[in-house]
Amino acid sequence: MRLDAEEQDCRPDAPLTTAPRVLRDVTSEAPCATAYGVDALRCERHNEPMTDARITPQTSGVGWIGTGLMGASLCGHLLAAGYRLAVFTRTRARAETLLARGAVWAESPRAVAAAADVVFTMVGTPTDVREVVVGPTGVLAGAAPGAVLIDMTTSEPALAREIYDTARAHGVAALDAPVSGGDVGAREGRLSIMVGGDRDVFERVQPLLACLGKTIVHQGPAGAGQHTKMVNQILIATGMIGVCEALLYAYKAGLDLETVLTSVSGGAAGSWSLANYAPRILRRDLAPGFAVAHFLKDLGIALAEARRLRLALPGLALAEQLYRALEAQGHGASGIQALVVALGRLSAVDWP
Ligand SMILES: NC(=O)c1ccc[n+]([C@@H]2O[C@H](COP(=O)([O-])OP(=O)(O)OC[C@H]3O[C@@H](n4cnc5c(N)ncnc54)[C@H](OP(=O)(O)O)[C@@H]3O)[C@@H](O)[C@H]2O)c1
Repeated sequence: MRLDAEEQDCRPDAPLTTAPRVLRDVTSEAPCATAYGVDALRCERHNEPMTDARITPQTSGVGWIGTGLMGASLCGHLLAAGYRLAVFTRTRARAETLLARGAVWAESPRAVAAAADVVFTMVGTPTDVREVVVGPTGVLAGAAPGAVLIDMTTSEPALAREIYDTARAHGVAALDAPVSGGDVGAREGRLSIMVGGDRDVFERVQPLLACLGKTIVHQGPAGAGQHTKMVNQILIATGMIGVCEALLYAYKAGLDLETVLTSVSGGAAGSWSLANYAPRILRRDLAPGFAVAHFLKDLGIALAEARRLRLALPGLALAEQLYRALEAQGHGASGIQALVVALGRLSAVDWP
């Protein structure tokens, strides 16, 4: 069955709730659903899996749970591409900008799933993921067979595999698709997206992932996306120690920090972390693009996985301890560039 919607206005800023949409089965030409607001987002499929359906703004409703620093930017790209979007997040105020742009509020993750063909989750922790996916008002309580769930939260590989199996029992396909590229990458739609799950499902959701990222790679079966993200976080962990120690050294040596950055950023020591976090440190901007509390969650997952793999990773363990100290110093909600504060305190340097 191929489905289409009459009178759809897919402009990014088009309101979704002003008029009923008539969704109809274009194969039989018979109208098959009339609905308002959130109910109008999902094509009526008579519970048939849409395994062959191409995902376009005209054929597919999208749901999003978790509109924080990352999720809000990413939802903006889907709206800009013309997708009809149902959203839910814990604190509704964090969705208001999206609602003003035409997203539709749903009262629970279950309601999001009931209104959408593809549901993204991008919440905080594995506990949050469990709640919004398998909880009593979670995605799987509302998703129809044939729906796709894409979890972009940085979470545990084992939980990704558990969700894959549980979703499958509901006839729902699940991908773990954590990202790298930070708040800047999310705003610019340039994220690296690392995906675990079935390759055919990965290929089917390409039109959506292409709105959100530039490097989109299938890493293997369920959980492989989260394992790849742990590789990414292990790289960031020791990299941030290097960035902050180097800046402290330059500061104490009395160098001009701007000109130092010009020299070292373009040389062999350059990195994404240096390019994006060092300027924030120089501006004394410790606001979160990526919060310390979330990074500590990631370091904990990586350390647990390393232990399970019988790997000693002392650099990772040191970074976890330093970030733990930073959190104890009141910086859990700061951005990860605030590590410079905890490192500075070791030598009684009051900077930045
Ligand atoms: N920021 C980055 O640079 C970055 C980069 C890569 C990956 N990540 C990962 O991406 C995820 C999101 O990061 P973020 O920076 O966007 O975090 P964030 O700003 O804290 O956003 C998370 C959002 O999810 C909502 N949420 C949490 N639990 C929920 C629940 N049970 N039900 C409904 N909504 C819930 C939060 O609600 P409240 O507003 O009420 O807290 C918040 O709005 C994290 O796993 C993080 O590790 C972040």
